[in-house]
Amino acid sequence: MNWRILCLIYLGCLGTAQGSTLVSVDSTQHDPCAAIANKTWVSPQAARACFSSFPVVSEIKANIVDVLNKTLAFHTSVNYQRQAPPPFEDIHGDVHADLARISSQDYSSDFDLHLDLVQALKRLVDGHCFYMNLCYDALYTTYLPIPLVLLTDEVGTQRVHIAPEAFKVSSAEFGEELDFWQDALPEDLKGKLELLAGAEVLSINGEAPFAVVNASAVQTGRMQAFGTRQNMFFASYGRTEAGWVYYFGDFASQTLPLKDSATLALQIQHDSDVAFANVTLPYRSRLSASVEPWTNASNFWANNCLATGSTNGVNLYAGPNIIVESDERHQHPFVDPALVRMRQRKHHRNELIDASLAQNIELLPELTPSLPLDGSSGVSQFYMLNASVTDALTGVLMLGSFSASSYDDLQSSLLTGLQNLKAKGAEQLIVDVTNNGGGYICIAHVSWSSNVRIRYFPHYNIAIGHQWLHRIIAGPKDTTIPQAGLQTQTRASPLAQLIVSKIAGGADPKNILLYNPLAWEYANNTPFSGDEDWLQPPVKKTINGVEDLFSQRLGDECQPFEMDPPGEPLFDPKKVVIISNGRCASSCSLFSISMAKREGATTVVVGGKDDVPQQYCGVVGGQSVRFATIDTEIKSVGLKTHTLAPPDFITNSLHGITWRLGFGIDNPSEPEEWQDHSASVNFPLKADIVNKPAAIWEQVAKTLL
Ligand SMILES: *[C@@H]1O[C@H](CO)[C@@H](O)[C@H](O)[C@H]1NC(C)=O
Ligand SMILES: *[C@@H]1O[C@H](CO)[C@@H](O)[C@H](O)[C@H]1NC(C)=O
Ligand SMILES: *[C@@H]1O[C@H](CO)[C@@H](O)[C@H](O)[C@H]1NC(C)=O
Ligand SMILES: *[C@@H]1O[C@H](CO)[C@@H](O)[C@H](O)[C@H]1NC(C)=O
Ligand SMILES: *[C@@H]1O[C@H](CO)[C@@H](O)[C@H](O)[C@H]1NC(C)=O
Ligand SMILES: *[C@@H]1O[C@H](CO)[C@@H](O)[C@H](O)[C@H]1NC(C)=O
Repeated sequence: MNWRILCLIYLGCLGTAQGSTLVSVDSTQHDPCAAIANKTWVSPQAARACFSSFPVVSEIKANIVDVLNKTLAFHTSVNYQRQAPPPFEDIHGDVHADLARISSQDYSSDFDLHLDLVQALKRLVDGHCFYMNLCYDALYTTYLPIPLVLLTDEVGTQRVHIAPEAFKVSSAEFGEELDFWQDALPEDLKGKLELLAGAEVLSINGEAPFAVVNASAVQTGRMQAFGTRQNMFFASYGRTEAGWVYYFGDFASQTLPLKDSATLALQIQHDSDVAFANVTLPYRSRLSASVEPWTNASNFWANNCLATGSTNGVNLYAGPNIIVESDERHQHPFVDPALVRMRQRKHHRNELIDASLAQNIELLPELTPSLPLDGSSGVSQFYMLNASVTDALTGVLMLGSFSASSYDDLQSSLLTGLQNLKAKGAEQLIVDVTNNGGGYICIAHVSWSSNVRIRYFPHYNIAIGHQWLHRIIAGPKDTTIPQAGLQTQTRASPLAQLIVSKIAGGADPKNILLYNPLAWEYANNTPFSGDEDWLQPPVKKTINGVEDLFSQRLGDECQPFEMDPPGEPLFDPKKVVIISNGRCASSCSLFSISMAKREGATTVVVGGKDDVPQQYCGVVGGQSVRFATIDTEIKSVGLKTHTLAPPDFITNSLHGITWRLGFGIDNPSEPEEWQDHSASVNFPLKADIVNKPAAIWEQVAKTLL
């Protein structure tokens, strides 16, 4: 049967696939995927029944393990992640051992295998290094209508509550589906979901709320700091290109349909009455808008579970005028199609791909800051705090991401917006980077050659560099000129060494590959020449007792910028406060770290547990890439048949790695990734400001500026 699956991939005969041999049920029996076909809302059990109906196919299992095992040779951090230093001692994963275990273990379904693979990578607690299969991940989002928040009362005691805005946001987002939950409430609360908004949560499933928060923090992965992973349990806000968004948090929204219900013991305050109630609410799974419809298990699999045009890499030298179109419908959970444009330059990325940040639930109008100022555009929004708030005027930049559909727009938006704040008299600045998952590092110098038109990063194509923002705020000084970024290393695995040798020998005449020496610089910021075999000799290091090979130190390739920065600083960095929920990653981390460690900016985490150390950012990286990028390198230099080369994915899979890892500022001989990023302040959230950005900014300004 397996030649047939392979046919789907290698001969491009996807449209003719029956795939019926994959399915454990025959069409005369109950087909759990047919049972949920065309339904927007289903129970998590029903979604799981469909997912779990596909047996493990040994060739597919071996394929995924092989792709991951061989691609991880390009991931800088494998050996560092065997045991991270304090304060990240809880990070200790041996991903190759996990893959070996998975290889020899039996699973009752392909979905069970999938869960183990996802968890094996999550144990590295590195949002850049992940495994997803869009067949399962984020096909549904599984919700409860009661997002939670951690509130601090007048005397400083912290308690978990249902978000005060829970009912409004859920009614606005779920419409009629809310009736399902209204009807599920116990007798005297039936139809009165509204009464639960703001209630204190005394226990969840019979456990202390923070026992459940901690259990979620242990398995959710993605951000290195335990405190940040706790914070991700709770509801929060963010800014995308399309507008202000509301995130339900890990408790009330999940990218896999694994939980059926939650039972909460609540203390409900209504006017001056206090009531206690035990409430069990079912989770409900909502189908992602982008999913390809199915009618039965076999076309569910064929339409959603197999590799697409953008899953694997391409040989960029296969022919003239190669055009690779990404298959947008399958990428939808992660991509705003408006952002998918032709990629014209190499814009190196450092960003998270996080399905939980792709829900785009609108922030309620009453929670949304009003009157954005000139210069506001997409992910960057500017505000002035009211004059009465602080003695000196305070400007605010909400920066939801370092990625945008137009680099030029964002670059000029940041400059215009900040200049405008200054013209209006702002002397101090709040930069809110809540849930900012990064973006591009800078603009590199190299142009795509005009006859190679490719979109092989179907995520965001154009983005702003964090270094630009650092440079325009802090002005020209020794920390921003000639370079404002971190030096980096790549891993020099044997196959990476071969790729570079091939390119140094002329295998990339159009200078379009990632490993091309022309894109990189020596540690002293002089560029490599085109024939520099720059992984030779590899630098030997022993990390956690294991020998590993890396590149020489690479300089920072960002400057000069494409737009002239002003000659003067726009703000005194010591009067800059950077606030977030800790979930500031990748390029956002690089920005925050430079501002905090080099310029003395204040960092604030909002709403963290008071007895848990709070880090203001995480997942620093240096540059992140996906499997398809590495595969493109391998194919384009003719190494695909090498024994160390990963095969193509058969499935609709995504695998990300950290390709370059930044060296530290305080300890330049070790990666910045696991160095301390303790926030200056853990700012408590009270009921009157939670998830209201403008109110939070005012409180932060009053207290800290
Ligand atoms: C699944 O549905 C497709 C399209 O309706 C149909 O052609 C195919 O025969 C069905 N397969 C099975 C196994 O029922
Ligand atoms: C699924 O829903 C779409 C749109 O609502 C409809 O056009 C289509 O006929 C439905 N298919 C089935 C098999 O019910
Ligand atoms: C991963 O690759 C290494 C090195 O090639 C090999 O020794 C090991 O068996 C592979 N592990 C799995 C699970 O395939
Ligand atoms: C949650 O984890 C933190 C940090 O490890 C710990 O201090 C706290 O006691 C834990 N809380 C519960 C309820 O387990
Ligand atoms: C809620 O459940 C707990 C544990 O089962 C029980 O002790 C408590 O009395 C219940 N509270 C209400 C208001 O029913
Ligand atoms: C400033 O005050 C006005 C009027 O009270 C209010 O509408 C506006 O939202 C406030 N602006 C900010 C940024 O808080």
